Amino acid sequence: MFTSRPIGSVSSPYKQTSEIPKGLGAKHEAEGVLKILPEFEAGLTDIEGFSHLIVLWEFDRSDGFALVGTPPSDNRPHGVFATRSPRRPNPIGLTVVELLRREGASLHVRGVDMLDGTPILDIKPYLSSVPSDKFRRGWLAEVEARQKQ
Ligand SMILES: C[S@@+](CC[C@H](N)C(=O)[O-])C[C@H]1O[C@@H](n2cnc3c(N)ncnc32)[C@H](O)[C@@H]1O
Repeated sequence: MFTSRPIGSVSSPYKQTSEIPKGLGAKHEAEGVLKILPEFEAGLTDIEGFSHLIVLWEFDRSDGFALVGTPPSDNRPHGVFATRSPRRPNPIGLTVVELLRREGASLHVRGVDMLDGTPILDIKPYLSSVPSDKFRRGWLAEVEARQKQ
């Protein structure tokens, strides 16, 4: 196993978890800045060409983990690996953000759902595209269908 080493931190408008939109249909449009440490800045070379980035980060303020829990979007329990719960065995978060602009080692982005000061573990360009006929939303699709009834 490796020991994680943050490459920077998130500057976010959210100081408390209660301020972050949650649940079904929650929209993440808040702007923030991914502040990359000077020693990793060269790793941002050519990143400007990508519209969206995957940010891997640490839930540094979560408390332990629960293998089964009830997420805000449902009243039924689900396994942690079928949810985006912050309380996971390895507290790693993943957020897709829109890259607005780069200023040196700072990436201005839209779509943050992390607390201010959250450590960033990695950044990758967002490339994935799953064909719509192969894409399934699991229990979330059931919740959405129940709500429409
Ligand atoms: C449901 S998780 C989803 C995060 C990410 N998009 C993912 O899928 O891994 C988002 C929640 O994590 C919590 N959170 C955000 N930043 C955190 C941090 N640094 N430490 C602990 N919890 C955090 C907030 O309660 C926020 O609403």
